[in-house]
Amino acid sequence: MPKVTFVNWDVSVEVQPGTTILEAAEKVEERGVKVGHSCGGVCACSTCHVYVREGLPTVEEPSEREEDILDKAFDVRPQSRLGCQVEVGNKDLVVEVSQESVKAWYDENPAARHEAEARGEDLRK
Ligand code: FES
Repeated sequence: MPKVTFVNWDVSVEVQPGTTILEAAEKVEERGVKVGHSCGGVCACSTCHVYVREGLPTVEEPSEREEDILDKAFDVRPQSRLGCQVEVGNKDLVVEVSQESVKAWYDENPAARHEAEARGEDLRK
């Protein structure tokens, strides 16, 4: 099975082809992976913004809708994609989660933010 690696936390997970990057992240959330998803994964926000560092040619091109939403994201780069829209193909992906997305995850999980702040953790990852 293909593997998705989240470089911010050096965490990898094997998934079935067709699994989205957001779904892969949710499988390893207990290992620290944080991908925001304010709209619930329906391509209506940009809080799941990630950079596909390796494997981008192996996934489908973004839809017009995804490109429109990405236009509203912060720090957009050529490797930018929405984690809820990218389905893993037959090859491994290496993904960096954007700061925008990590911040959104903490906004969606205020208790986790308070605990992380109390432990003095770096909230950028
Ligand atoms: S979770 Fe909102 S666009 Fe992906």
